[in-house]
Amino acid sequence: MHRLERTSLLGRRAMVDQVQRTLRAESGSLLTLAGVGGVGKTRVALAAIRPLSDRFPDGIHFVDLGGVDDVGRLLPAIADAVTDNDRARGDGTVLSRAAGQLTGRQLLVLDGFDLVGAAAPSVSALLDHCPGLSILVTNRWPLHMTAERVIHLPGLSFPPVGATLSIAELSEYTAVQLYVERAQAHRPEFILQPDNAPAVAEICRRLDGLPLAIELAAALVQFLEPPALLAQAGHWLAVLTGGARDGPDHQRSLRSSIDRSYQLLAPAEQSMFRRVAVFTGGFSIPAAAAAAGVTIGPAFHTLAAWSRRTCCNGRPVARRRSRSARCGVNMPKSS
Ligand SMILES: Nc1ncnc2c1ncn2[C@@H]1O[C@H](COP(=O)(O)OP(=O)(O)O)[C@@H](O)[C@H]1O
Ligand SMILES: [Mg+2]
Repeated sequence: MHRLERTSLLGRRAMVDQVQRTLRAESGSLLTLAGVGGVGKTRVALAAIRPLSDRFPDGIHFVDLGGVDDVGRLLPAIADAVTDNDRARGDGTVLSRAAGQLTGRQLLVLDGFDLVGAAAPSVSALLDHCPGLSILVTNRWPLHMTAERVIHLPGLSFPPVGATLSIAELSEYTAVQLYVERAQAHRPEFILQPDNAPAVAEICRRLDGLPLAIELAAALVQFLEPPALLAQAGHWLAVLTGGARDGPDHQRSLRSSIDRSYQLLAPAEQSMFRRVAVFTGGFSIPAAAAAAGVTIGPAFHTLAAWSRRTCCNGRPVARRRSRSARCGVNMPKSS
């Protein structure tokens, strides 16, 4: 059992079904489960593949690419993971060694592709060599390969801004359920009640329903009641730390998770990311261009590139008088 499966998975039935349906439908398929760091891609992948052994009777391989940060190491890592005896490790190219083990109807899960994105063509090459093979990739953004299917994983559901909801109504939102469940792991007597429910709802909303961030926030219930944590919202990047010691480094804190996404951007994209950080509640494209000191064209292309990489979204921002398209950076809202 994977370490993450020791806690309950909330609110992902439909997503798990969708991943399973896609993998069952076609062989030779490449499916990418894309979403921001900590949104639950690994969890959904694990839940989806467990019941698929009838569809992939020749094997399901889960390859954790967390420690693989060199594109040249992708195929060797796959080959090592799918090769179960030393004799088979011997000869041939690394591609033929991996392909030789992935015959018949098999599923290969490549979890955490972030650092080896440039090696995506190797994934295509594997599919070319192995007709019955399907590949499920988890990554912060799509690989942009021919015939790739993409499922975008959003955050958990959270209460809308300004709504006055009962405790029962708030408990319907999966982000609130996650906060309460993880808070109870640290303080068993914790329950949602009138003096903490509005703050819990607001914490979940400001964290965009991002499970990793909600887990980090809920763990603080040991010494901060939800209203007190909400009062620290301006310092969340410094406060939301203390992730599981048996988890990857980039999930130890909210900052390290965002840092990972930032490091994966090109230098010009990083520069614009820093500039638009001055906006709260979203920004229009002309405003982003002005802040970055560039014309609309380059600003548009950078924002589009971010959007493909799920660092930013082009959703209309609620309760604005302007009807022009506005973008939001996928980061916690501190005000
Ligand atoms: N739907 C969910 N229900 C409960 N916990 C979740 C859920 N989604 C994610 N988590 C938790 O959030 C953290 C990040 O999830 P993970 O799958 O590692 O994210 P990703 O792979 O997208 O970076 C983990 O501790 C995981 O257990
Ligand atoms: Mg993951």
